[in-house]
Amino acid sequence: MIGANSLYARDGEAISSLQKLRFFPLALEGGNGAHVIDETGRRLLDLSAAWGAASLGYGHPELVKAIAEAAANPAGASILSATHRGAVELASELLATLPELEGHKVWFGHSGSDANETAFRAIAAATGRPRMIAFRGAYHGGTQGSMAISGHGVQAHAARDPRLTLIAYPNPYRGEDGQEVLLDLERQFATTLPPHEVGALFIEPIQSDGGLIVPPQGFLRELVTMCRRHGILIVSDEVKVGLARSGLMHCFRHEGFTPDLICLGKGLGGGLPISALIGPAAIMDHATAFAMQTLHGNPVCVAAARAVLRVIGTEQLAANAARIGGELLQGLRDLRRLHPSIGDVRGRGLVLGVELVSDVAARTPSKPLAAKTVYRAFERGLVLYYVGQNSNVLELTPPLTLTSAEAATAVRILGEAIADVEAGQVSDEAIAAFAGW
Ligand SMILES: Cc1ncc(COP(=O)(O)O)c(C=O)c1O
Repeated sequence: MIGANSLYARDGEAISSLQKLRFFPLALEGGNGAHVIDETGRRLLDLSAAWGAASLGYGHPELVKAIAEAAANPAGASILSATHRGAVELASELLATLPELEGHKVWFGHSGSDANETAFRAIAAATGRPRMIAFRGAYHGGTQGSMAISGHGVQAHAARDPRLTLIAYPNPYRGEDGQEVLLDLERQFATTLPPHEVGALFIEPIQSDGGLIVPPQGFLRELVTMCRRHGILIVSDEVKVGLARSGLMHCFRHEGFTPDLICLGKGLGGGLPISALIGPAAIMDHATAFAMQTLHGNPVCVAAARAVLRVIGTEQLAANAARIGGELLQGLRDLRRLHPSIGDVRGRGLVLGVELVSDVAARTPSKPLAAKTVYRAFERGLVLYYVGQNSNVLELTPPLTLTSAEAATAVRILGEAIADVEAGQVSDEAIAAFAGW
């Protein structure tokens, strides 16, 4: 299927594998709305939106206009040694989405990774409390400093920070309510983990790459309360699930706690590289020239982010995510009744997971089922990938602009793909070349 001179084959010849996370031979020439166009001209419905980055889909006119205008009259290229209007306005607009936080400031980066890394470094330096707590299965980024505070098995090659403590992220599908995690942390606070040495707790309000796990109700609130008693700061990593995707502007609001710091990325730029870290001035003004890269605050990326925020407002995309996400969730639950491979369907708004299992009663995770399903879905015209500590959870993070008709098409194709896999129509050889996650 992959011709020797195809774009995909040429990618194999010319581009390093270090940054590849491939599930099938997708090579793109363009995109429009919720669809991408591959090298053969085929239109595929994109249920991933490039891992959530294409929050407005592809080629949204407001985004295109904002980028073109900023590129035609750029206010410099960076925010390091000169400020510019767009950056100041964007910071104010982001802060306005968080009226519950007072005296906060915004730092701009390129990616979720650099935002989390900066949070970690700035908190440790400003508080003098170098220990951090994060969750097993957490993915906070792919740079040294963000991997240091992550807990995902896919990063087994990376060095964790020796001062990092990982705790379990309770999974309701596995019968976990989180009480054991709270007790365990109390025990650690009383023995090996002096809480006054802990700077922050890093939370994903839905653990995304760890398996799209929605935490048990009330668990995060209790955990936050416990940590706050010891002056531990709370960081909400909303890189994937924030900015309207969960059906609310900020995902932590589903959980009834307010973080001290918030990391945003991915969908913030609608496909352009920009991230933001929002936190109290005591942390964010700890030092100058402390966390910077030349093109941070780039005016074209800033303009894209402002357009994304504007369109989230004018097109009421949080409400759309809640409504279309509800339809998708229902469609997927209907599929679950038909397919023994589907163990669980979960999520909020337009961040949904479908857990595939080889034995539904025993809830046995199956990576081959996930790998074959996304491969077959691709052949049938649907793009989605899988995540999870066991690599068996299909992840749906489509554009926030997804329509009801597109959601219905997605469910239909996914159902067909799962049926094909259950009927043994996808061979082991077909997926052998794709390591996936
Ligand atoms: C919750 C979360 N935080 C941080 C990151 C890292 O973001 P990036 O890959 O843009 O650096 C990711 C990426 O998947 C993520 O899901």
